[in-house]
Amino acid sequence: MLLIKNVKIVSCEKISEEQDVLIEDGEVLKIGKIPASAGMTGKKAEMTVINGNGEFLLPGIIDCHVHFRTPGQEYKEDFESGSKAALMGGVTTVLDMPNNVPPIFTNELLEKKRAIVSKMSLVDFGLYFGTNGENLDEIKKVKNVAGVKVYMNVTTGNLLITDPEVLQKLFKVKQRYALHAEGETFDLALKYLLESSNEFYLCHASLKREVDKVRDLKKNGNKKVFMEACPHHLFLNKEDREKHGGYCCVKPELASLEDQNALWEGLKDYTIDTIATDHAPHTKAEKESEKPAFGVPGVEFSLPLMLNEVSKGRLTLQDIVRLMSYNPAKIFGIKNKGEIKEGFDADLVLVDLNLEKEIKNGNVVSKCGWTPYAGRICKGWPVMTIRGGEVMMREGRIVGEGKGKEVEFG
Ligand code: DOR
Ligand code: ZN
Ligand code: ZN
Repeated sequence: MLLIKNVKIVSCEKISEEQDVLIEDGEVLKIGKIPASAGMTGKKAEMTVINGNGEFLLPGIIDCHVHFRTPGQEYKEDFESGSKAALMGGVTTVLDMPNNVPPIFTNELLEKKRAIVSKMSLVDFGLYFGTNGENLDEIKKVKNVAGVKVYMNVTTGNLLITDPEVLQKLFKVKQRYALHAEGETFDLALKYLLESSNEFYLCHASLKREVDKVRDLKKNGNKKVFMEACPHHLFLNKEDREKHGGYCCVKPELASLEDQNALWEGLKDYTIDTIATDHAPHTKAEKESEKPAFGVPGVEFSLPLMLNEVSKGRLTLQDIVRLMSYNPAKIFGIKNKGEIKEGFDADLVLVDLNLEKEIKNGNVVSKCGWTPYAGRICKGWPVMTIRGGEVMMREGRIVGEGKGKEVEFG
C-alpha cells in the first residue's frame, strides 16, 4: 500500500484542500483524511508513506501523440528510452504512432509491435494503426487501437495518401481517425469529416485559420471533431526556424507569432481539446544534415513548459488537467484514467510550482540527446511520477522498474 499525504488534488474543475490518497494494487483506493495506520489492520501490513508537503497532485499526463520508433528505428529512440523520457515529464500513458519501419498496416505487424512494446515500456501505452488506403480489411478487423492515423501530407515515413477516392472509401470504414492534414489538405479533411460518421482527431494545429475553422464547426454543434496542439507550435515560431535551422524543422512547420497566439486562444476557449507532443526524435546528425528530418522531441518538457505558463498566469492547473489528461482519456475512451478518483488507475504526478530549473541538452533522457527548448527556465516541474501505484520518477531520477500495460479503449 502507498499513502500520499497532504496534497492538493487537481481536477478540471477545481483544486481541493489538502488531502491524502491511499493506493492499493495499482488503483486509488480512497481519497480523504487517512491516518498512516490505515493499512496496518488489514492483511497487508506494509505501507509506504509519502509526504506531499501541500503540493499539487495531478492525474498522470496522457500524451496521445508520440513516435517512440519501436520497431525499426531504435537508433533514434525506443520504447524504453522514450517511456523514461515520458516519466521525467509526468507522462504515465502514451499513444504511439504507426509510422514505424515497417509501418503498422496489418494486424500481424500490430501484434508483433504489441509484444515488443509490452516488454519495454515503463509507461502505459496504446497504439495507433496505420493505413496506405489499401488495407481496409485489416482496419475492419483491428482491435483495441487508439485509432487509424492518416497522413495527408508528406512527412517522416512513407504513409502518404492523396487520392480523394481512396480517402473517401477509407473514411467510410468505422474507426476513429487521427489526421495529419495541413494547408489545403486541412480543408479537405474537414470536408471528409462532414461526410463521414466517424470521429476525426486533428493532429498538431499550427495555423490561426485551422483554429478558426474548428471553432466554427464546434459552434455549429459538431461533436465529432477534436483538435490537438503541440508544445513546439505553442512555444516556437518562424523566427526559431531561422535561428535554429534543421533543429526546428518539423511538419507542420513552425508558423507566425499571430498563429501561435491563436493556438493559445484556442486552448482557453475550448476549441483545442488536447496538448500532445508529437514527440518525434531524430539524431543530431539527421537534424544537421542538408535535408533535415522532420520532427522535434517533446515528451520530457511539455508539462514543465505548461506549468511555467501557470506560474506566469496564462493558464490554470485545471486547464492543464483538462488538456493533458482528462480530455485525452475521454476522447480516446481510455478506461480508468484522466482523473484522480477512487477505483481509477493510480497514475499521478506531483508538481512543485516553485521549483525553477533550466532545460538543458545535457539532461535529456530521450535517446536523441537534444531538445528545442534548451536554455529555457521553467518555474514549475513534476517532482514525482507514479504509474500504476509505483513511484517511477522522483526528483528527476527514474527510480521504478515496473513495466506499463496496454490501455483499454472503450
Ligand atoms: O515532424 C514530424 N515528424 N511530423 C510528422 O508528422 C511525423 C514526425 C516523425 O515521425 O518524425
Ligand atoms: Zn503529423
Ligand atoms: Zn506525429
